[in-house]
Amino acid sequence: MDFTLSEEQLMIQEAARDFAQNELLPGIIERDDAQEFPAEQVKKMAELGFLGMMVDSKYGGSGLDTLSYVLVMEELSKVDASSSVIVSVNNSLVCWGLETFGTEEQKQKYLTKLATGEIIGAFCLSEPEAGSDATSQKTTAIDKGDHYILNGTKNWITNGNSAEVYLVIAQTNVEKRHKGINALIVEKGMKGFEIGPKENKLGIRGSDTHSLLFNDVKVPKENRIAEDGFGFKFAMKTLAGGRIGIAAQALGIAAGAYELALKYSKERKAFGTEISNHQAIAFKLADMHTKIQAARHLVYKAAWDKDNGNNYDISGAMAKLYAAETAMEVAVEAVQIHGGNGFVKDYHVERLMRDAKITQIYEGTSEIQKIVISRGILKV
Ligand code: CAA
Repeated sequence: MDFTLSEEQLMIQEAARDFAQNELLPGIIERDDAQEFPAEQVKKMAELGFLGMMVDSKYGGSGLDTLSYVLVMEELSKVDASSSVIVSVNNSLVCWGLETFGTEEQKQKYLTKLATGEIIGAFCLSEPEAGSDATSQKTTAIDKGDHYILNGTKNWITNGNSAEVYLVIAQTNVEKRHKGINALIVEKGMKGFEIGPKENKLGIRGSDTHSLLFNDVKVPKENRIAEDGFGFKFAMKTLAGGRIGIAAQALGIAAGAYELALKYSKERKAFGTEISNHQAIAFKLADMHTKIQAARHLVYKAAWDKDNGNNYDISGAMAKLYAAETAMEVAVEAVQIHGGNGFVKDYHVERLMRDAKITQIYEGTSEIQKIVISRGILKV
């Protein structure tokens, strides 16, 4: 395994780094305060090809590998995790799922617009009573011959209001449990589909998170993804790749917080010298750097597994688990190193600390990752 980046990967990484500094950083504190969706920034990321990174160019994507996607996620997340989650959901959960399991008609109709970023998508699995326990879907999609009738509520949906296309997981046959679940493509504006109020969140405040309400929504059969009853497997397989994207997000948050703390520690003086000269601070930096490097290796390895046709259920879950825990620990330490300034918004680390928390929760909590990993290793 050689993680030396190719010329192309280095260029992509640099493009994402420049974009984050020049386009995401300005106004970030205000957007976070106001919970403002970064619409302009999303448009520019679409122009850079960041919204359909791994999609084949014949569907309008950038045709890149997973490692390139991870590099972009890492750089964007160093500055703005609200923007990077939009990128992650569109790439991993929506475009990948449609390209891998959709029909040619679905790809032509939806993927071509999603991959170019002309529109963005949402992935709708979580429900008020089915977050971690994803097989307990209460949303129903009743088979009516040439269409389904969709009823139910989805919660905490990223891109909830800004999306145009929603991949909705719903139960068609309760007796078959997870084998009776389907994944349906729902369009904004379909009769009976309502977007609930926006959530007021601790972190990633720029991303729009909503509940969604489906009341007798008529969804044509041609909008079902793959065969009848494949919806739960679709969700699990899609999430397995999604976890690599969120792992990269967590890695970026950790690296961003660390870089700010390192810089601050070399500038701030206390007890007659720069605080980096105090072992209490230097040891913190050593721990932070070590954990970030370990997380980076896990994240790149999971991407490498995906790019090389290996199973990435366990490596993706390990990357997500470790990177998310690292993001939280490192961001807390970055605030501590900044002292009183760390508690103030202008120094950015308090936002990264708030943003870090969600990486331990969405696309499967840290506890869910441990279920996936332990089942995987016990089976071997
Ligand atoms: N690939 C393919 N199939 C899989 C799979 C995978 N990675 N993981 C599970 N399955 C299959 C199993 O093989 C099984 O099928 P069979 O009966 O045919 O063998 C079926 O799915 C059910 O699996 P389990 O018995 O393992 O199901 P479980 O009830 O024990 O739950 C779980 C497993 C891993 C805990 C799962 O429920 C889970 O991942 N929960 C977390 C859900 C989650 O991540 N939600 C995040 C929402 S999306 C989000 O957060 C997006 C965002 O906003 C950013």
